Amino acid sequence: IKKIGVLTSGGDSPGMNAAIRSVVRTCAYHNIECIGIYRGYQGMIEGDFLEMGARSVHNIVNKGGTVLKSARSKEFMTVAGRVKAHEQLIKAGIDALVVIGGDGSFTGAEVFNKEYGFPVMGIPGTIDNDIFGTSHTLGYDTALNTVVDVIDKIRDTASSHNRLFFVEVMGRDAGHIALNAGIGAGAEEILIPEEDMGLERLLESLKKSKATGKSSSIVVIAEGDKIGKSVFELKDYVEANLPEYEVRVSVLGHMQRGGAPSCFDRVLASRLGVKAVESLLEGKSNFMVGMLNDKVSLTPLEQAIKGHTEIDRELLRVSEIMSI
Ligand code: F6P
Repeated sequence: IKKIGVLTSGGDSPGMNAAIRSVVRTCAYHNIECIGIYRGYQGMIEGDFLEMGARSVHNIVNKGGTVLKSARSKEFMTVAGRVKAHEQLIKAGIDALVVIGGDGSFTGAEVFNKEYGFPVMGIPGTIDNDIFGTSHTLGYDTALNTVVDVIDKIRDTASSHNRLFFVEVMGRDAGHIALNAGIGAGAEEILIPEEDMGLERLLESLKKSKATGKSSSIVVIAEGDKIGKSVFELKDYVEANLPEYEVRVSVLGHMQRGGAPSCFDRVLASRLGVKAVESLLEGKSNFMVGMLNDKVSLTPLEQAIKGHTEIDRELLRVSEIMSI
């Protein structure tokens, strides 16, 4: 392997820049050329490449977003798109790829590897933490800290006005952010996609908390929760059924994907980048590098994509006890 291409794809996450830096510098350390590919697979199709050296990644370890930019390429999902992408890689002399992204990005890498036998290595980058084979994905820790910080602020105003707040956090299919940030911020209830709490139980719980003397409350709701009502519909429903509550809604949205990465995410990105490049140099391919029990480890891409990431059920119990 003489020239490694690196790209970021799918939803960006804090720590992606630190991972790019790590890949570029590990290549430099081993005297391998490194090419940055802009806008994920779309830039690969269009040959939007930039040669990167150790100095070209200075001052980015601390930056959110991704200097390579990101995209969700529809064209790469077609055979014709992948033919073009392959031609561009050959033309540029790139002979291996590091893909930083989530499961959609890994699916693309796996298909590409199957079709062309092209060496690929994945680094998990998504705030959702929904990738099998790693305890943490890049950006998850930062997103948790961001969410907890914001809920602390919401709590101040909730408590001044004796209000109930519904705070919607990201996670279409995974409740990791909601569950962990909810416990960290002392939420009354946490609604996640993995567990159907039911409207009745929510009402009961809110009634109980009023009865036990709580004057304000925070309920954290993942985007993809099982109740099937939007946060605004939920507000109307609760106000109609429990008139003693004055409810406000706060949808945190894309701010959760921004900001400087936490130290944890920077260290994780640095470790995973080194392992990704060195594994390619050892002739390995079609794996994701991840962190399991604080050890960097490899998981076949196929498993990383299809494997089921469970939420920790013990956390549900902890949350229930904490909100007594
Ligand atoms: O997968 C990361 C994520 O931030 C999800 O939590 C969220 O549901 C989705 O991306 C939002 O996607 P978009 O940036 O395309 O609106």
